[in-house]
Amino acid sequence: MRHLINILDLSTAEIDKLIDIADDIIRHPQIYGDVCHGKILATLFYEPSTRTRLSFESAMLSLGGEVLGFSEQSSSSAAKGESVADTAVMVSGYSDIIAMRHPKEGAPIVAAMHSSVPIINAGDGGHYHPTQTLTDLMTIRHEMGRFDNLTVGLCGDLRFGRTVHSLISAMSRYMGIKFVLISPEELRLPYFVKGKYIIDKGFEYCESKSLEEVIGELDILYMTRIQKERFVSEDEYFRLKDSYILTPEKMALAKKDMIVLHPLPRVNEISVAVDDDPRACYFKQARNGRYIRMALIAKLLGLIATDVNEPQEQAEEIITDKFTCRNSRCITSTEQELPQQFKLTDKENNIWRCRYCETRAE
Ligand code: NCD
Repeated sequence: MRHLINILDLSTAEIDKLIDIADDIIRHPQIYGDVCHGKILATLFYEPSTRTRLSFESAMLSLGGEVLGFSEQSSSSAAKGESVADTAVMVSGYSDIIAMRHPKEGAPIVAAMHSSVPIINAGDGGHYHPTQTLTDLMTIRHEMGRFDNLTVGLCGDLRFGRTVHSLISAMSRYMGIKFVLISPEELRLPYFVKGKYIIDKGFEYCESKSLEEVIGELDILYMTRIQKERFVSEDEYFRLKDSYILTPEKMALAKKDMIVLHPLPRVNEISVAVDDDPRACYFKQARNGRYIRMALIAKLLGLIATDVNEPQEQAEEIITDKFTCRNSRCITSTEQELPQQFKLTDKENNIWRCRYCETRAE
């Protein structure tokens, strides 16, 4: 049984194959209409969602399966204090596959530890969002025809933007990528992403506070929303919320074949006047989400063979109850009975990181 917690749980060959299948689904939907007959997808959404939850549900219904679930924490037993572990045990008795979104980082790992069916991470706090990345990659392949040799600008909330973290880790497996990180000082990319996927892998990168100054270099501009719900201080959110607004004037400085992506929802970071620009691909990107999730569900249920190499399992050294995670957004901060587990991520420098949220041990 395989879960999708992190985009790196899929090899690049598997991602290519999933996009091939998604493209085939678009061309021949009738062939796939019964693939998941008799199967149930549970969507456990402890955080708001429009696209992700509805595209998962639409994907399962389009495959001939059924869906059940909840779309807010308050309507589930989480409101009574039920743990993620117990919920996963229960719901895996009622369904064949689970898509889960949770405000705490690492929650889907806990679910996967206790579930008897595949778990798909549909976003865990400010950490990762691998199925959005599948959607992003599908759109990049459609629009650019390649994943190599691209200058990728990521703009906005790079600190809490989980879609950014997953996309950077995914792009770090291709050649000749240059990352341009555009954010205010307070919302810079965290080290668990920048160190591991950009610096250690030797990618060229630069950090800028100004979109205008760098937009002309980019092949892809990935805009993001400032993640209001992750701020501790409302004042800070209001100070930063209008940091970047993409307008037709700024688009005039960009390459003629640059594409603009955004995981959506947008608040005001892309002016609606940009929507008619042929380089604006965010609505196509959202539409692709349905088809790539169809391919993913069918794959994880073993109903479609992808027949390509899986990622190499790397044996991780894990230590239990030696360190305590100090990240208040980690699932260990609310689920007190979880074992405090850390993995050795850098042997040479003896660096241990929380198994759930990847915060460094002190
Ligand atoms: C993103 C998310 O939830 O992280 N939305 C989505 O899934 N398409 C981006 C966001 O909320 O800003």
